[in-house]
Amino acid sequence: RMRGVLLAATLSTLAVLSAAQRPKQKDITGQALIDLADVGESCADSYTGYAIVDGSLEKCENLTSLQMGGGGGKGMKAYEEYKCKHLRVHGEMKSGKCVCKGKYKGPTCNDYDGCPADKPSLHASSCSKTGCANDGIMAIGKDHMECICKGEWDGKFCDRLACWRLTDRGHDKRYKNAGTKCECGAHYKGEDCSTLKSCEKNGKFENGVCVCTEGFGGETCGQKCPSGQVTCSTGSIFSVILALPVMAAVFNRLF
Ligand SMILES: *[C@@H]1O[C@H](CO)[C@@H](O)[C@H](O)[C@H]1NC(C)=O
Repeated sequence: RMRGVLLAATLSTLAVLSAAQRPKQKDITGQALIDLADVGESCADSYTGYAIVDGSLEKCENLTSLQMGGGGGKGMKAYEEYKCKHLRVHGEMKSGKCVCKGKYKGPTCNDYDGCPADKPSLHASSCSKTGCANDGIMAIGKDHMECICKGEWDGKFCDRLACWRLTDRGHDKRYKNAGTKCECGAHYKGEDCSTLKSCEKNGKFENGVCVCTEGFGGETCGQKCPSGQVTCSTGSIFSVILALPVMAAVFNRLF
């Protein structure tokens, strides 16, 4: 019985995963963005590699080596330049130091004099909790500060719409951008745009699915199969079905 429950749990997890969205949580280099809320106040026990020391976001390995006197004047200036480029949203160099531009302030020069305490940050002339649009969260990326985004939002500050992020891989066309919101793509309908209503020119709509001409595949038959292959598919349902025997074997071994 236990086994059955676990199997069911795993299956439902897989089902959720296969219907998963792909929100922006990584930077353009593919590195996971580090939520500023996970950054503590001391380099001594930092697991992110960063800390907000005396109100300033610092990269721990560099701060520590400078504090130990490793860098000297030149190393200090290089690190200040690094900070302005990578760890500040609105920073600028002034007499060898990285400081906040104009009325910006805070650990990353993202807060703004004149914004209220509950919405301290400014982006595109509106005050918000972390300076990101559309409920994004300010984070540290490899190249610069940028936002972790919710749902369909994309771009450095989550102000660009990218409706493909609402689907899992292989279903990018279920949604399309329509001005400031997402709409079902041309061949889809339904609340989550997962119901087919027609197919692309290499498919025939039959009983709710697209039957593809030889050499074409994908949910709407819009995908040309690799040469030599008569059929091909990127549907997640197929990967779940393929994964079933493997999972059953794993469970039999474990219990
Ligand atoms: C930061 O520290 C690393 C390792 O100590 C060093 O290689 C790098 O040059 C430093 N960068 C800056 C900008 O200080």
